[in-house]
Amino acid sequence: MHQLVVFASGKGSNVQAILDYFQSSGKAQIALIVCNNPAGGVLDIAAAHQIPVQLIDRSSVKEAAFVEMLRSHSPSLLVLAGFLWKVPDSVVQAFPARIINIHPALLPKYGGKGMYGQHVHQAVIAAGEKESGITIHYVNEHYDEGGAILQARCALLPEDTHEGLAGRVHKLEHYFFPRTIEFLLDNLS
Ligand code: GAR
Repeated sequence: MHQLVVFASGKGSNVQAILDYFQSSGKAQIALIVCNNPAGGVLDIAAAHQIPVQLIDRSSVKEAAFVEMLRSHSPSLLVLAGFLWKVPDSVVQAFPARIINIHPALLPKYGGKGMYGQHVHQAVIAAGEKESGITIHYVNEHYDEGGAILQARCALLPEDTHEGLAGRVHKLEHYFFPRTIEFLLDNLS
């Protein structure tokens, strides 16, 4: 069984989608949830499924012990599912081509520092885009710049609010993220 370490900051709907998808297959399980937000809804999901949680702060993630703790779970992949901090370079270097992120827009547009959650959707609407979507990509040392693995698109309607767009983007995420993880697990080199 593949072990996943999932990093999340918020509500955790993508974590829930990953749990639901792999529940019956026995192919992967979430060994650990790394969270920087003591009030994140994802912690309730972790508790409900008895998944260990590592709460982090800005300094603890930079320590060598953090990388060793991650290694101790023998993760096949590290999955950023709504994680709003930049991953330290030490972690990126310790797990080459093993860290993936999901971003709620079609990168390279609407990425980078400060571009997360509703800020992304508001910027997309303000720019008058005709479509948006998701990007699942490898994580490197620069925000949202690692190689793309998959993009999926949705139309943007003239009357769209950022909440409406977020809902449509979440549907894409919940469908494609677990399936992309499964594809990568099946094809690890
Ligand atoms: C998701 O839409 C994810 O793409 C986004 O945060 C949301 C988390 O939702 N990530 C980013 O914006 C990263 N820059 P969730 O907590 O319900 O999974």
